[in-house]
Amino acid sequence: MSQANHTQFNSQLEQEYYVEKIREYYQVELGLQKPLACIRTFGCQQNVADSERIAGWLSLMGFSLTDIVEEADFILFNTCAVREHAEDRVFGNVGALKSIKKDGRSPIIALCGCMMQQPHIAEKIKKCYPFVKLLFGTHKIQVFPELLYQVIQTGKRNIDIPEEEEGCITEGLPIVRGNANTAWVSIMYGCNNFCTYCIVPYVRGRERSRKPESILQEVKELVSQGYKEITLLGQNVNSYGKSEGFDVTFPKLLQMINAIEGDFVIRFMTSHPKDATVELFDTIAACEKVSTHFHLPVQSGSNAILKAMNRKYTREQYLSLVEKARKRIPNISFTSDILVGFPGETEEDFQDTLDLVKQVKYTSVYTFIYSPRVGTPAAKMEDHTSSKEKVDRLSRIVQAQEAIAAERSKQMCGQVLRALVESEADGFFEARLFDNQVVRVQTDRENIGKWADVKIKESTNWILNGEIVKIYD
Ligand code: 5AD
Ligand code: SF4
Repeated sequence: MSQANHTQFNSQLEQEYYVEKIREYYQVELGLQKPLACIRTFGCQQNVADSERIAGWLSLMGFSLTDIVEEADFILFNTCAVREHAEDRVFGNVGALKSIKKDGRSPIIALCGCMMQQPHIAEKIKKCYPFVKLLFGTHKIQVFPELLYQVIQTGKRNIDIPEEEEGCITEGLPIVRGNANTAWVSIMYGCNNFCTYCIVPYVRGRERSRKPESILQEVKELVSQGYKEITLLGQNVNSYGKSEGFDVTFPKLLQMINAIEGDFVIRFMTSHPKDATVELFDTIAACEKVSTHFHLPVQSGSNAILKAMNRKYTREQYLSLVEKARKRIPNISFTSDILVGFPGETEEDFQDTLDLVKQVKYTSVYTFIYSPRVGTPAAKMEDHTSSKEKVDRLSRIVQAQEAIAAERSKQMCGQVLRALVESEADGFFEARLFDNQVVRVQTDRENIGKWADVKIKESTNWILNGEIVKIYD
């Protein structure tokens, strides 16, 4: 056994000791046969995946999960730092927990995730939220039992935020997945790109990829358990394995996963345009299980702004990528992130973005107003655009995209497409098409998790409506 493996093995045994101690504390000392834990996850799918690992630990400790904070004996918020709005929501939600009590006892309140990796935020929590007893960052999930036990044992606050940490990969952590049909599989962590507006590289550390064997084993297990959708996660999946010098590139990894026997869809996100290659498009075209959805965030359509953002591609290069991909995968569905109001963005720059959105004809776009992040280069750039103007730009993108999506949904009318019935929402059921679009259907709860053939019906706006014509049992 190598030194690294040895250490990991020891540390997992150690964590199991703390797991038992915590189980004992809740069950014996507090007399709770079924202690409840509430996890609230803010932000991206990586955070969702991290919360599933923490839920895995909590389950070993004897906890069941609840969505209701008032019911919980342990409360954890897994936070997001990508925009100020996300942070404000966390502060608001944490503030509301101040005097929360269950059966006369205060639950342990913990905060983790990206916000906690920022010193000024950790400082604010320390000062203004004394009832938060445990704080830890993005690199400490593997020692969560130890951190929680320290709080229980000492009754003191435990604030575990390292100054600077590169992060590591720990395999074999327990997990409780939030869904029985669709699963998140992280293939890499962190980011090396340092887009000038983005806090992610600072709070999630440098890029590091899991070994292909570990990923393949996890996917095989999921498929054998009946999972139908596997989404591979990473900040920039196209650079999978590069930092490690693996022979297995991202396209190769897709081919290997595609070769796993079973009836399932492979999805992935996110792709940085600078690393998207023709080889990747050819792989998507050739692998029947790999979804034809491609999330390829452009952020801006202006070359000046792309340069200031440090995105490392031009508008022309991006459009040429889209064209190359469409040649190879005619039914490819592009989605994107658009950032408006970046410092120095003029009306002309914005028009370039609007024009690009109209040219590419995305299936959908996620639109954001630039939010300055402490410690990033863009936060020091001069910004003369008013908030009103930024809101107006955002709504002009949204309007343009709604028209595009409405046109697309009209064109899809009458087609019969395969979809996975996923969930119930607002009196409808939602089914997901191979290209990731969601169709509203009428069906029964017992069909959740089944494949269906769905006929797309006349849609009044950009929302797809459909009718199930066949269900696969
Ligand atoms: N302000 C607004 N949006 C941001 N994003 C990243 N950083 C910021 C920021 N500072 C957006 C980008 C990214 C998405 C996940 O969040 O569009 O692709
Ligand atoms: Fe942030 Fe850019 Fe990395 Fe995406 S690629 S996480 S936007 S720094």
